[in-house]
Amino acid sequence: MEAAATLLDAEAVGDLVLLDPLTEESLLRTLQERFRRSDIYTYIGDVVISVNPYRPLPIYTPEKVQEYHNCNFFAVKPHIYAIADDAYRSLRDRDRDQCILITGESGAGKTEASKLVMSYVAAVCSKGEEVDKVKEQLLQSNPVLEAFGNAKTIRNDNSSRFGKYMDVEFDFKGEPLGGVISNYLLEKSRIVRHTKGERNFHIFYQLLAGGSAQLLQQLKLRQGSQHYGYLNRESSSLPGMDDAANFRDMQDAMAVIGFSPAEVTALLEVTAVVLKLGNVELSSCYQASGMEACSIAEPRELHEICELIKLDPGTLEQALCSRTVKARDETVLTALSVSQGYYCRDALAKNIYSRLFDWLVNRINTSIQVKPGKQRKVMGVLDIYGFEIFQDNGFEQFIINYCNEKLQQIFILMTLKEEQEEYIREGIQWTPVEFFDNGIICELIENSKCGILAMLDEECLRPGVVNEDTFVTKLNQLFATHKHYESKETQNAKHVTDLSLPQRCFRIHHYAGKVTYNVTGFIEKNNDLLFRDLSQAMWAARHTLLRSLFPEGDPQKVSLKLPPTAGSQFKTSVATLMKNLYSKNPNYIRCIKPNDTKTAMLFTPELVLAQIRYLGLMENVRVRRAGYAFRQLYSPFLQRYKMLGTKTWPRWAGGDREGTEVLLSELKFPPEELAYGYTKIFIRSPRTLFDLEKRRQERIGELATLIQKMFRGWRCRTQYQLMRKSQIIISAWFRGHAQKNKYKQMKRSALLLQAYARGWKVRRTYRRYFRSGASTRLANFIYRRLVQKFLVGLRKNLPPMSVQDRTWPPAPYKFLAGANQELKNIFYHWKCKKYRDQLTPQRKALLQAKLCASELFKDKKTLYSKSLQQPFQGEYLGLTQNPKYQKLHAVAKDKLVMAETVMKVNRANGKTVPRLLLLTAEHLVLADPKAAQPKTVLSLSDIRGVSVTRFSDGLLALHLKETSAAGTKGDLLLVSSHLIELVTRLHQTLMAATSQALALHITDQYGRGRGG
Ligand SMILES: Nc1ncnc2c1ncn2[C@@H]1O[C@H](COP(=O)(O)OP(=O)(O)O)[C@@H](O)[C@H]1O
Ligand SMILES: [Mg+2]
Repeated sequence: MEAAATLLDAEAVGDLVLLDPLTEESLLRTLQERFRRSDIYTYIGDVVISVNPYRPLPIYTPEKVQEYHNCNFFAVKPHIYAIADDAYRSLRDRDRDQCILITGESGAGKTEASKLVMSYVAAVCSKGEEVDKVKEQLLQSNPVLEAFGNAKTIRNDNSSRFGKYMDVEFDFKGEPLGGVISNYLLEKSRIVRHTKGERNFHIFYQLLAGGSAQLLQQLKLRQGSQHYGYLNRESSSLPGMDDAANFRDMQDAMAVIGFSPAEVTALLEVTAVVLKLGNVELSSCYQASGMEACSIAEPRELHEICELIKLDPGTLEQALCSRTVKARDETVLTALSVSQGYYCRDALAKNIYSRLFDWLVNRINTSIQVKPGKQRKVMGVLDIYGFEIFQDNGFEQFIINYCNEKLQQIFILMTLKEEQEEYIREGIQWTPVEFFDNGIICELIENSKCGILAMLDEECLRPGVVNEDTFVTKLNQLFATHKHYESKETQNAKHVTDLSLPQRCFRIHHYAGKVTYNVTGFIEKNNDLLFRDLSQAMWAARHTLLRSLFPEGDPQKVSLKLPPTAGSQFKTSVATLMKNLYSKNPNYIRCIKPNDTKTAMLFTPELVLAQIRYLGLMENVRVRRAGYAFRQLYSPFLQRYKMLGTKTWPRWAGGDREGTEVLLSELKFPPEELAYGYTKIFIRSPRTLFDLEKRRQERIGELATLIQKMFRGWRCRTQYQLMRKSQIIISAWFRGHAQKNKYKQMKRSALLLQAYARGWKVRRTYRRYFRSGASTRLANFIYRRLVQKFLVGLRKNLPPMSVQDRTWPPAPYKFLAGANQELKNIFYHWKCKKYRDQLTPQRKALLQAKLCASELFKDKKTLYSKSLQQPFQGEYLGLTQNPKYQKLHAVAKDKLVMAETVMKVNRANGKTVPRLLLLTAEHLVLADPKAAQPKTVLSLSDIRGVSVTRFSDGLLALHLKETSAAGTKGDLLLVSSHLIELVTRLHQTLMAATSQALALHITDQYGRGRGG
């Protein structure tokens, strides 16, 4: 174990308890060596000593947080996270409220330590939206409070000028619920004055550097701190501190905490008022009575202030420059001198600011407070101003050092005195360790009858002339022989010349060193009075926030009782704090400042040695070494660890102490590790305790496994039994169901068999009564009947006789389809025959001619389609009627087939002449129309062929045989207006005469053929 090894590293032990030899020198050397190695944390038992490195170290990463989370305190390197983890676990697991006390001089690293503790706890406790919000609010209270309550001092650039105690509240699971912040005595004198090299509170510089132009205009401020009297008009920027960025962070933080924009504005307005008050200049004037009075030198600033807080400037001016005094029943207004006026102005600024700070803390508390009624555990973190020794120490230092004195007292009481007393009380063998008890110093300051604070209060209340001189005189009388009190007078009495002790001063030997206090201002600061005129003026302002800060300004609530003094208020709050801390389990972080110059990694041995001395670290180590790290009453101890012993688990019948002894002897720890007191068991080293805890954890694991085992066994068994029962029921039902089904099936089958058997028997009996072939006959009968019905239906439904109509009713049954088709054909043929029979011979011949024409010309000559409509008349000349044609008629005799007028084309010149054409059964005759005399008579056998064109003309070339008489003249070229009929009849006639077909040429050209 590497860390454990470093704990035991002889050069630089991690736990000073292990130091050998133990001397102041070795202790100092160890701290120095560790510091050199950047190990800034060292233990004395469970107390952490932290030496400020003044530079960032890489030991606060999330990985480190994980490393220390749930770690074994002594198994890892000393770290502030280890103590934070220990405290948090003790709170969560052992249900003990914790407090973390961080002490040390100013600049030793207390505030940083408190932030580290808070951030560690925030990082390790559980996550969730609600929890994260609470954590964020708690963490973000820091930047806000630091802006308003921290300032640069000579010791520390970010010195807390107020004391802060924060109670973080957790629920039983260790999740943060919220918190409460208490603040102690803000150093308000800083508002109006600070020494050179220091600064006023951060917020002023942040506001001026980071506020937008618009914001500054709204607040009536000017950029740059040189414009403001309270900021000392000096250059203010700090290396390493970005005021503007801090201002933005602060604003973001306020938003996270839950400040409304209106609240933020009001807060900044009041802050601006404080700043501007410093610029209100007064000038002196003289009244008629000759008394000095003061007035506002330059009213602009005052007017702006009044605009901001919505107040009549006259009221404020009067409140600043004069004072009402009540003398019996009269009120008299007295003018103030210039210095009194300035005093008034500063008092007002300080009061406004400190009350504003209180308001701020309260406002944060309302956001982070826990709703009442929840059970909670508390972890308190105390970060209070450290011990301060300056050149000139005033009332503030006195109060601050008193507080540190009280904290030291707690430490002494809890770690040194209480512990040793307990050993004696418990009857443990013990050699007392000497240590310095600072109780006597606390007593000197806080004794309620004759302590310094009581004397100061008395002085403040005393009527008559009060000033600090009478106060010091009184102290000198009272503490003339006190070991821790010195003044010029007491020294004189002892005949010691001490030049470092001027008049009006006293010196106290604090545990951490001698401090000389100058009493100037003690009474005034203790009184902390604000003239009623001022508070009433503030109350009169119509600025809600400012007004609420001065409730005593309400004229209705004038009280004559003096408010408690600052000193007694502080004493009371410190007493409450101490009581609170005593009730919790303390965890100490003791911060040491290694040098006075804030230099990184510089270790000044003398300075550290002084701190080692006054912090009582040597005594701490000695008591720790001789003593016991852990003690607990027997009963809870036994309760917690009884599972580790065979005899004590699960129940121990005897007394708690015997039980503890039996248990521990069984565990075989070395005897020097243990001591048995009257009521408590003591364990010397934390190691043993950790061992015990570790064994307990393991044992608890085992027991948990055992319980789980038993429980799982029981659960499985019952589950099995239940399943078995269900299974039996299910299978019973299933079998029943299957049997029923089977039975039904068998019954059905039996009935079927019976039915067949019975049927068979009956059929056998009645067979002889049946006729064979009955079914065929029935079927035939039915067929016949269907055919009959079909035929009768057909007769009624015969289609019309028209030859063109080819319709026929469909067959009603498929088997009749063939017959039906046959009938349809027969009927159609019969219809055609009937039609033909009724035709006359003429009509028949005509149709035959038409048919012949169709065969010859259809689709071959265009003229054909025109001829369709024209009936073939044959005789177009009227030979019988016209006597002129008597001769021709005679030529034709009874054998005339066709007669008409044609045009003969003369082949020589193409001229046409009309000719009468007559076609008889034997001849073709051409005649002159005038004379009606045959000109050309051709025997049909002379005709070799005929040519026509494809077109719709009536041109016809008659080719004649060359052997014939007419043929010698060549072919005849005719134009007929009945060409189709003529050629058809010629063909028919030729067929009839010679039974030879006419040679017909249908051509594209005229005159083809021979001689054409
Ligand atoms: N653990 C640390 N690591 C690095 N720097 C530190 C540490 N603690 C303190 N410091 C430095 O010391 C300065 C003073 O610390 P602070 O906590 O403000 O002192 P205190 O509150 O005791 O007056 C811090 O501003 C920081 O620069
Ligand atoms: Mg601080």
